[in-house]
Amino acid sequence: MITSHTKSIAIIGDPIEHSLTPRIQNHALQKLGADIVNIALRVTPDDLAIAVRGAQALGFLGLMVTIPHKEKVLLLCDRLDESARLMGAANLLHFQPDGSIVGYSSDGWAAVKSLQEEGATVRDARIAILGGGGAARSLALTFAREGAHEIILLNRTIERAQLIADEVKTLHVPARATTLDKNTLRQVLPEVDLLVNATSIGMHPNHDETPVAQEALAAHLTVYDIVYNPLETRLLREAKSVGARVVDGLGMLIYTNVRAIEICAAQHISAATMREEAMRALASRA
Ligand SMILES: NC(=O)c1ccc[n+]([C@@H]2O[C@H](COP(=O)([O-])OP(=O)(O)OC[C@H]3O[C@@H](n4cnc5c(N)ncnc54)[C@H](OP(=O)(O)O)[C@@H]3O)[C@@H](O)[C@H]2O)c1
Repeated sequence: MITSHTKSIAIIGDPIEHSLTPRIQNHALQKLGADIVNIALRVTPDDLAIAVRGAQALGFLGLMVTIPHKEKVLLLCDRLDESARLMGAANLLHFQPDGSIVGYSSDGWAAVKSLQEEGATVRDARIAILGGGGAARSLALTFAREGAHEIILLNRTIERAQLIADEVKTLHVPARATTLDKNTLRQVLPEVDLLVNATSIGMHPNHDETPVAQEALAAHLTVYDIVYNPLETRLLREAKSVGARVVDGLGMLIYTNVRAIEICAAQHISAATMREEAMRALASRA
């Protein structure tokens, strides 16, 4: 029950109406018996600063942050966790009792946790990441920090992939960028252990699209698709059919929520508990 003691966490973004976070986080908070609610608030880029200061003034515990605010919120933070400093972006702001704001980035960490959960490791792995956006960047930098052997970035716009590859190299991990097309995939995939889709190809409503033709997939690969709507993308379905290990994108969303509860509510919830509710939420949308 919401009372005058109830505390709040919000997720802010623009758009935000598609977010699964309030549903899965409120379920988790209830299970924990925490007197905290999570709400989704649409905040336009022009209103970002006033919204963050307003939430702080209203006594929110913290804000989860999604597109398009992950980079701009850094300017509003007083301190950055090492993760946010590395990413140059934050997906969580924690309001401190002394009035300061600390920024965290947990996207990359959440991806590593969900890979580990499925028995896959990034240490010493040769990794191909499809994409050149914010998600590709978070994953590439985190995988480099986690000891990846080599990272190859493939993107429609090669310049964006090249910028990320250059950043990865500053972490002393070999990296290169190439165009995302059939020929490069055919050359690159036999050389890698882990293939990650960090593009939006295959996301609802484009269920029939895939970034990789089935002929290029092989059983030696772990195929990780961070798209979680649908949960089983065409890429994952086809990867499974050639005998590859597959990891879906829901774990990344879930671990981001696990981390937000740890930081803002100082409580731990199991990823499995959140996953059950997330699956129900996705099923009710299908
Ligand atoms: N599981 C999770 O918790 C989680 C977390 C974050 C993001 N995601 C998902 O990850 C995906 C990427 O997110 P983001 O924040 O990195 O987005 P973004 O910055 O907008 O990047 C989108 C990427 O997809 C590529 N792309 C889009 N349409 C394409 C097409 N038709 N053909 C080829 N490439 C295409 C873009 O290529 P160009 O650079 O050439 O435009 C770019 O690399 C989204 O689907 C998002 O929902 C999931």
